[in-house]
Amino acid sequence: MRSAPDGAPRAKSALPGRPASLWMETAPPPDLDPAATGDHLGSPSVDVAVVGAGMAGVMTAIRLKEAGATVALLDAGRMGAGATGFSTAKVTAGHNLIYAALERTHGMEGAAAYAALQRQALDDLADLVRDREIDCDLERLPHFVHHPPGGDPAELGREVDAARRAGLPAELVAEVPLPYPTGGAVRLADQAQFHPRRFLLALARAIPGDGSHLLENARVQDIREGRPCELRADGRAVRAREVVVATHHPSVDRGRLFAKMRVKRSYVLTAPIAPERAPHGTFISTESPHHSLRVAADGDELLLVVSGESHTVGRADDTEDRYRRLERWMRERFAVGEVRHRWSVQDEYPVDRLPFVGRPRGGDGRILVATGFGGWGMSNGIAAGRILADLALGRTNPWAWLVDPARRVRRRRGLLALNTGVAGRLLRDRLARRPRSAADLAPGEAAILSGRGGKVAAYRDEAGLLHAVSASCTHLGCIVAWNAAERSWDCPCHGSRFDPTGAVLEAPATAPLADRS
Ligand code: FES
Repeated sequence: MRSAPDGAPRAKSALPGRPASLWMETAPPPDLDPAATGDHLGSPSVDVAVVGAGMAGVMTAIRLKEAGATVALLDAGRMGAGATGFSTAKVTAGHNLIYAALERTHGMEGAAAYAALQRQALDDLADLVRDREIDCDLERLPHFVHHPPGGDPAELGREVDAARRAGLPAELVAEVPLPYPTGGAVRLADQAQFHPRRFLLALARAIPGDGSHLLENARVQDIREGRPCELRADGRAVRAREVVVATHHPSVDRGRLFAKMRVKRSYVLTAPIAPERAPHGTFISTESPHHSLRVAADGDELLLVVSGESHTVGRADDTEDRYRRLERWMRERFAVGEVRHRWSVQDEYPVDRLPFVGRPRGGDGRILVATGFGGWGMSNGIAAGRILADLALGRTNPWAWLVDPARRVRRRRGLLALNTGVAGRLLRDRLARRPRSAADLAPGEAAILSGRGGKVAAYRDEAGLLHAVSASCTHLGCIVAWNAAERSWDCPCHGSRFDPTGAVLEAPATAPLADRS
């Protein structure tokens, strides 16, 4: 086991069977004193309960506490060990080519509001790091959204014009500081990268006390909206005036937001790179699937952090190959050492390209949600914290209208294609026949088998033990697909994921796959 730069031990892996990301490895979960966290309190009563201790949840809790409210921040596992711990942690307003598209669908006012939201998030990050003296490798640097060779320069020009109209200092550049040809870029100065877990863990430590609590390993099983709302989590009850659900995909999804988002997984590798060869900036390409780049410090070394090879969850049967292809792509362009980390991450992409943050339709309006960050969970998570805290406190927020989860989603064609695809999948799943039997499965193999009570998702682990669970996703019944790289059952319809024993890894499903052994 290597040591982190501060001498703290490195975590092996955040979750059983899940590879450790660079951030998880170099900032393992701290041992918090139960007396300080309020963990010893069975049933706290607070102003606001926040479910999910990732970027959006922690930022919400901090803003609420700063305003004098009491908070209970709950996480099913350890804080910052979900999407935040597996991000690439680039913080920018340059969310690929977005401003020209936002102008078309949401008008200049919408594009300008989105840009302002991202600028505020960058300022919030810098202010918190400075004011709280957080050691999280925050670095301000330019961000490039670049075309591959042969890309349409007029498209970049339109994006620069729209970004400028939205108030961003965007520039069109022909030269991109990368060691391979590109087709020019939109450049944004003074964007940021950082170590997301060092930032998050430092903030989270400030939450317990003065009537507020941080409750880890507290999986919320039930939320009852009322006066007060009541949450049940692994034997604890928490009462709160309002509840914020910031669990990446909300476990309570009254607004049927799952039907308005595509869900994708993408893959990340790190490898050592010499300082003189390290690109200066953060980068994302416009081709599909895109590639993104940054550099991160790891002790005395620099690591190149490369991500790409994204696909719709549950719709790729070559997940192991995707890591190989990504490594080949990296090596063809950079002189790097041995791969140091590999991990994958899941992101929700709303069809109208705006996050869902606030009060969804239905109920009494006491449950707020945050989701759909479109692969930009750091800036949108920081921004969501400010909006959710303002709404929970009854304050107005200048950007809440833009990301209102109750809005009418305007990209009708995208929505139609998304839901037609899901309906087709449901039908195909019912008709498909798979002739294999469990006896055919070698160690490490998985298959969907026919069983008397319906299809069975069967996996024989490396030790030869067979794990058999229902193949019918507990969300709406699509048939799950095996993800060999992550050893998980992934749902192709709305992105729920389950481990081989059927336990939920990712919502919108909340119930495990039934045991069929
Ligand atoms: Fe919706 Fe599986 S996630 S059916």
